[in-house]
Amino acid sequence: MPTTFITGGTVVSATGRGAADILVDGERIAALLEPGSTVLGTDLARTADTVIDATGKYVVPGGIDAHTHMSMPFGGTTASDDFESGTRAAAWGGTTTIIDFAVQKFGERLQDCLATWHQMAAGQCAIDYGFHQIVGDVNDASLSALRELPAEGITSYKLFMAYPGVFYSDDAQILRAMQIGASTGLMTMMHAENGPAIDVLVGQLLEQGKTDPYYHGIARAWQLEEEATHRAIMLADLTGAPLYVVHVSAKQAVAQVASARDRGRNVFGETCPQYLYLSLEEQLGAPGFEGAKWVCSTPLRSRAERHQDHMWQALRTNDIQMVATDHCPFCMKGQKDMGVGDFSKIPNGIGSVEHRMDLMYQGVVEGRITLERWVEITSTTPARMFGLYGRKGVLAPGADADVVIYDPDGHTSIGLGKAHHMNMDHSAWEGFEIDGHVDTVLSRGKVVVDAGEYIGRKGDGRFVRRDPCQYLI
Ligand code: URP
Ligand code: ZN
Ligand code: ZN
Repeated sequence: MPTTFITGGTVVSATGRGAADILVDGERIAALLEPGSTVLGTDLARTADTVIDATGKYVVPGGIDAHTHMSMPFGGTTASDDFESGTRAAAWGGTTTIIDFAVQKFGERLQDCLATWHQMAAGQCAIDYGFHQIVGDVNDASLSALRELPAEGITSYKLFMAYPGVFYSDDAQILRAMQIGASTGLMTMMHAENGPAIDVLVGQLLEQGKTDPYYHGIARAWQLEEEATHRAIMLADLTGAPLYVVHVSAKQAVAQVASARDRGRNVFGETCPQYLYLSLEEQLGAPGFEGAKWVCSTPLRSRAERHQDHMWQALRTNDIQMVATDHCPFCMKGQKDMGVGDFSKIPNGIGSVEHRMDLMYQGVVEGRITLERWVEITSTTPARMFGLYGRKGVLAPGADADVVIYDPDGHTSIGLGKAHHMNMDHSAWEGFEIDGHVDTVLSRGKVVVDAGEYIGRKGDGRFVRRDPCQYLI
């Protein structure tokens, strides 16, 4: 097996950092060594097939983005990144595993949908990938199919309390699904917004002529996120199902997650970079139709109400456990512009899969989180949460050699024509400057990004079967 020796860097884990060399043998990490040490008299810096000089750089486990939607059919169109373009962009940004959502729409057989997602991804991906299952039609057949998912290497499924008539589940359906979650160990992932109430507000706003993207954020009020989060937690409490609340944006919803955790419940919260950096006033409220770039659900929250500061705080205190992107990109032309004159027709979603590691590293630079916490929320916790830990999320002997060499003296300018390889005609992150740079990325031992250039191939990435959650209390 070809060997790779990564030497001179500072290896960072979720629990500490230190100078160490890493020997990779084939697809796996063989050893972490004291700098300058030899193995049975062999100087690996001279004998390894490939030597990577990581002097002055951080060496961290590859990022795991546990919430992406490649080619998702949504809002009358399809997310503009497919598995090829989306995973390539992810690799560029230091993410070496995604967990995407297989989508069951109303009236479809769950098993058929999963087979379709396997077909869409197989042979296309630049990095490893797993699936969660969206259950958009909770009925006897889909509930019984849920029980079979762990045997397929899928240990989590997502329900929606929003989007009536599309993916929406009512409380009775949620209760029944969670009972299966409790008995099988499947993680219930919840889109927690009160969809029926949102739809009333949307109708009223449109009637008043309030059609701009800004009103997307007004209709999806924080009270409706808090209420749904509370209801999901209570149903999980009743059934004993572990619950993972996706894309938490309101500080009041964070408080619900924190309070459940304080009571010892297996309730977890995910946030996304957009809820840490962007706001209702600045982005959704941008002039004209510009705000459509940032229409996503849950929506961006008010800067005046300081949701963003609260979210950083929650990340520090582990009231929120991890950061994913909810990558669901749509172009302005031909997609987002379907909602000119009616914000409710703007397809919901932001593209960020390429920038998560950088955006969260900027939190380290700005003193909001530690270097170790950066690794924890972007890689180690996602691995534990979704049953990949040991193989991924850690640099240790036997683990997959998914490695990012990150240069703290480098710089990344985000935007079209700069760091941007996602299939979009705009960047939701245009103008963001990062005081760091993804230099080199190894995916299962293969260098796929070298000196900032992508040198991998589609099909390098494999489907990863996942174990049950390794983060339960
Ligand atoms: O706006 C979003 N979040 N689009 C993707 C679908 C979802 O709800 O996660
Ligand atoms: Zn959602
Ligand atoms: Zn999503």
